[in-house]
Amino acid sequence: MSRKRTAILISGRGSNMSALISAAMAPDYPAQISLVLSNRPDAKGLERAAEFGIPTAVVDHTGFAGDRKAFEQAIDAVLNEHRIELVALAGFMRILTPFLVNEWAGRMINIHPALLPAFKGLATHERALAEGVKLHGATVHYVSAEMDDGPIIVQGAVPVRDQDTPDTLAARVLQVEHKIYPKALALVANGKAKIKGTQVISGADAEETRELIWP
Ligand code: GRF
Repeated sequence: MSRKRTAILISGRGSNMSALISAAMAPDYPAQISLVLSNRPDAKGLERAAEFGIPTAVVDHTGFAGDRKAFEQAIDAVLNEHRIELVALAGFMRILTPFLVNEWAGRMINIHPALLPAFKGLATHERALAEGVKLHGATVHYVSAEMDDGPIIVQGAVPVRDQDTPDTLAARVLQVEHKIYPKALALVANGKAKIKGTQVISGADAEETRELIWP
């Protein structure tokens, strides 16, 4: 089996990154994490990635004077240098232009902390609490030109408790993120998460999806 060379793009602490790196340590996992790239030189996740022995790179967006395409071309060049086949965005806090999205169409995935298509954008936990939803969660999806859109690969749900604050809810969602992201990357890397129009058909069975409502 050839493991798909995967880059993880981060901007911050990288807890999803760590979950992916840990999952990819299993010898039968279909992806290998070959690069962690950050747009912020001070991203905590870079240190963690280095501790894991993963090559890291920084493409600092502040060096491009607002030229988003040049910034993305620089990222694309680094990805190609490392012979990357799949890209997993994990808390990468830059809005992408059609350039990078098109270059990596069908090969780039993202995790969003809400059950899409609800609560696209930022402050998802605050907004979920304000709406009074009783289930919240996270979504891994292919990246498309529209932000937090694109075919859904895996979702995980958590209950919302009466006493939740944005922080307690975020912590519960984060645990489900760490479960679903490795699952979704595996489905993409082994070719099971096939895009059909605006949807993904993964063929996942009941056993594989049982734990997606947690706890
Ligand atoms: C996660 O909540 C993820 O869903 C969102 O950004 C956050 C990143 O957290 N896109 P981490 O850096 O993976 O810990």
